[in-house]
Amino acid sequence: MEIDRIENALDRLPDILKKNLHRNLCTCNDVPKMDIIKAIVNGATTVQQIKIQTYATTGSGCCTQQVERLIECICSS
Ligand code: FES
Repeated sequence: MEIDRIENALDRLPDILKKNLHRNLCTCNDVPKMDIIKAIVNGATTVQQIKIQTYATTGSGCCTQQVERLIECICSS
Protein backbone atom coordinates (compact mmCIF):
# COMPACT_ATOMS: atom_id res chain seq x y z
CA MET A 1 0.00 0.00 0.00
CA GLU A 2 1.23 3.50 -0.78
CA ILE A 3 0.79 4.64 2.85
CA ASP A 4 3.12 1.88 4.07
CA ARG A 5 5.67 2.76 1.43
CA ILE A 6 5.50 6.42 2.38
CA GLU A 7 5.93 5.58 6.08
CA ASN A 8 8.88 3.41 5.17
CA ALA A 9 10.42 6.26 3.21
CA LEU A 10 9.86 8.70 6.09
CA ASP A 11 11.57 6.28 8.49
CA ARG A 12 14.69 6.54 6.37
CA LEU A 13 14.94 10.31 6.71
CA PRO A 14 16.99 11.97 9.41
CA ASP A 15 14.76 13.86 11.89
CA ILE A 16 15.66 17.23 10.42
CA LEU A 17 14.31 16.18 7.02
CA LYS A 18 11.05 14.92 8.51
CA LYS A 19 10.04 18.47 9.35
CA ASN A 20 7.78 20.71 7.30
CA LEU A 21 6.57 17.92 5.05
CA HIS A 22 3.65 19.97 3.81
CA ARG A 23 5.62 23.13 3.19
CA ASN A 24 7.12 23.86 -0.17
CA LEU A 25 10.54 22.38 -0.67
CA CYS A 26 10.59 23.90 -4.13
CA THR A 27 9.41 27.43 -3.54
CA CYS A 28 9.94 28.42 -7.17
CA ASN A 29 7.19 26.04 -8.26
CA ASP A 30 5.18 25.52 -5.05
CA VAL A 31 6.06 21.85 -4.66
CA PRO A 32 5.66 20.53 -1.10
CA LYS A 33 8.34 18.20 0.26
CA MET A 34 5.68 15.48 0.58
CA ASP A 35 5.02 15.55 -3.17
CA ILE A 36 8.69 14.92 -3.80
CA ILE A 37 8.76 12.07 -1.28
CA LYS A 38 5.71 10.53 -2.96
CA ALA A 39 7.39 10.78 -6.36
CA ILE A 40 10.45 8.95 -4.98
CA VAL A 41 8.23 6.28 -3.41
CA ASN A 42 6.57 5.88 -6.81
CA GLY A 43 9.87 5.19 -8.53
CA ALA A 44 11.59 8.48 -9.28
CA THR A 45 15.25 7.92 -8.40
CA THR A 46 16.92 10.83 -10.17
CA VAL A 47 16.53 14.61 -10.07
CA GLN A 48 15.48 14.41 -13.73
CA GLN A 49 12.62 12.04 -12.91
CA ILE A 50 11.53 14.21 -9.98
CA LYS A 51 11.57 17.18 -12.32
CA ILE A 52 9.30 15.44 -14.83
CA GLN A 53 6.84 14.26 -12.18
CA THR A 54 6.63 17.31 -9.92
CA TYR A 55 8.30 20.30 -11.65
CA ALA A 56 10.54 20.68 -8.59
CA THR A 57 14.01 22.04 -9.53
CA THR A 58 12.73 23.59 -12.76
CA GLY A 59 12.87 27.15 -11.40
CA SER A 60 16.29 28.52 -10.60
CA GLY A 61 17.35 25.04 -9.51
CA CYS A 62 18.00 26.21 -5.98
CA CYS A 63 16.33 23.17 -4.38
CA THR A 64 18.28 20.58 -6.38
CA GLN A 65 20.60 19.63 -3.49
CA GLN A 66 17.66 19.11 -1.16
CA VAL A 67 15.94 16.90 -3.71
CA GLU A 68 19.17 14.93 -4.17
CA ARG A 69 19.43 14.46 -0.43
CA LEU A 70 15.88 13.08 -0.21
CA ILE A 71 16.60 10.62 -3.03
CA GLU A 72 19.86 9.60 -1.34
CA CYS A 73 18.20 8.95 2.02
CA ILE A 74 15.14 7.15 0.71
CA CYS A 75 16.84 5.08 -1.98
CA SER A 76 19.93 4.01 -0.03
CA SER A 77 19.83 0.36 0.94
S1 FES B 1 13.17 26.19 -5.17
FE1 FES B 1 13.02 24.62 -6.61
S2 FES B 1 13.87 25.47 -8.41
FE2 FES B 1 13.98 27.07 -6.95
